[in-house]
This record gives sequence, structure tokens and C-alpha cells, in this order.
Amino acid sequence: MRDPSLRRSLALFRAFLREQHDPEHCYSLLARDAVAQVALHIGLEGRIVVDVGGAGGHFTEEFRRQGAHCYLFEPDTRALMSRGHIPEGAVSADGYLLPLRDAAADVYFSSNVLEHVADPETFLSEAVRVTKPGGLIYLSCTNWLSPWGGHETAPWHYLGTDRARARYLRRTGREAKHKVGVNLFPLHVGPTLRQIRARQDVLLVSARSRYWPFLPGAITRIPGLREIATWNLLLILRRTSTPTAQPNFPRKARA
Ligand SMILES: C[S@@+](CC[C@H](N)C(=O)[O-])C[C@H]1O[C@@H](n2cnc3c(N)ncnc32)[C@H](O)[C@@H]1O
Repeated sequence: MRDPSLRRSLALFRAFLREQHDPEHCYSLLARDAVAQVALHIGLEGRIVVDVGGAGGHFTEEFRRQGAHCYLFEPDTRALMSRGHIPEGAVSADGYLLPLRDAAADVYFSSNVLEHVADPETFLSEAVRVTKPGGLIYLSCTNWLSPWGGHETAPWHYLGTDRARARYLRRTGREAKHKVGVNLFPLHVGPTLRQIRARQDVLLVSARSRYWPFLPGAITRIPGLREIATWNLLLILRRTSTPTAQPNFPRKARA
């Protein structure tokens, strides 16, 4: 499906609406779509890809289908087991501290994880560390003021998180899975873009709405409106080759 296009956005939206009843269809479609977005920037055949916060492994599987060597890192065992089995070759690890050497990956991929970490800047620093100079970093997140920002309590998060959680409990009889300050952190488009542009170790290749059918890049450039209309922020970064610090040897004292 062409990206961006109304047909694609509608197909993804319909799949999201059926996510609870048919997660396989929803996440397989999303994985095909996201991997195609990555492939626009880098050939995948034979590449080393790390899928951080990859949950049940749909994205990892799709990367492998496209010829990449993909490794899944996920700290939550329940998320890893969400399809009834642990995805092949998955590693239980936190994105803040990946068990990888520097510059191990051609592609660092993390879909909808950034809003679940308390310190996105440190999380990004770890992404940069494990990515090769010239390599690609794909990050997406549902920003807080997006109509979907409150996740399962959306759009009632606009009225306050306590009220939104109370409403969810009343309606479903269950506590909402996501709690602000515990496993969901308000993330905003403007400050996130400013933080990234201030870094020397990455180049912002593209900042766009991940799912929007029209002018997905233009939306992220309009202050105020972008906080609501972006819906889900997709960042494509290129790891720059920052000069390594030279050791500072003391000069020999002249006789
Ligand atoms: C909304 S799910 C996204 C799953 C999948 N990437 C997707 O796009 O469908 C967020 C995932 O991030 C994971 N996560 C949360 N904190 C993390 C961290 N510090 N490091 C790596 N993954 C983390 C969660 O366990 C969860 O699987």
C-alpha cells in the first residue's frame, strides 16, 4: 500500500479498531507497513537489525522475511509471551542497557516504545551507541496530546488521567494497564524534535506522522497543531560519525 495514502491509513485504522479481537491481523499489517518504511531508507538484505521493545515479535519476523538478521530485545516477559510462545532468538533486555557492543546494528528499530520510558533522551543515547555510523534509527511514539495519547483510556486523558482511569474501570471492570508516571510518560512533539536537533550524534532524516494520509511531514512543523494532529510521531534518524575523543597525553617536559 502506498505511503502516504488514504487507502493505507484506513486499512491501518480499521486494523487498530479490531486490535483486541484480531491482534494477529493488526500487528502483522503494522509490521509490514513499518518495515516497508524502513526499507525506503536502507536496503534490508543481510543487514543487522535490532527490534527494541519488540513484544511478541511481529516486526522481527517481518524484518527476517525481508532478508535482515533481526534480533528482538524486550524486558517484559508477558509482552514476549503475548503470542503464546517466546519469539525465536528473543533476548530479555532493557533498551536503556542493551547487551550489544558499540555500533553493532545497521538498523535500530523501536516502535511505540519511547512514550513508555521515563527518560527518552538516555534511551535514545543507547540507540545511538549500538547503531553503526551511517546506520538508521527508526523510532515511533504516540505523543501525549494525540487523541490516542492516553492509550486504552483515550481520549478521556484530555480531561485528566485520574478521571480517565476511573472511567475505564467503571466501563470495563478492569484497571487500565497504563499508568502515567509508571509505564506511560507524556511526550510532546516540539520538545522531542528540539532535543534531537540539538544532538551531534544523529541527523534528523524525517519527522512525520506515522499514519496520516496527507502531508505527514508538514504536520510536524506546525507548533500547537502538531501536538494533536501528528497522532503518532515517526522519527527517522541517521547515526553520524562523531569524531572519537582523542586521548589527552601529557606533553613530555623539555629538558
Ligand atoms: C506499546 S508496546 C509496543 C510493542 C511493539 N513494539 C509494537 O509496536 O507493537 C511497548 C513495548 O515497549 C516495551 N518497553 C517498555 N519499556 C522498555 C524499555 N525500557 N526497554 C525496552 N522495551 C521497553 C514494553 O515492554 C512493550 O513491549
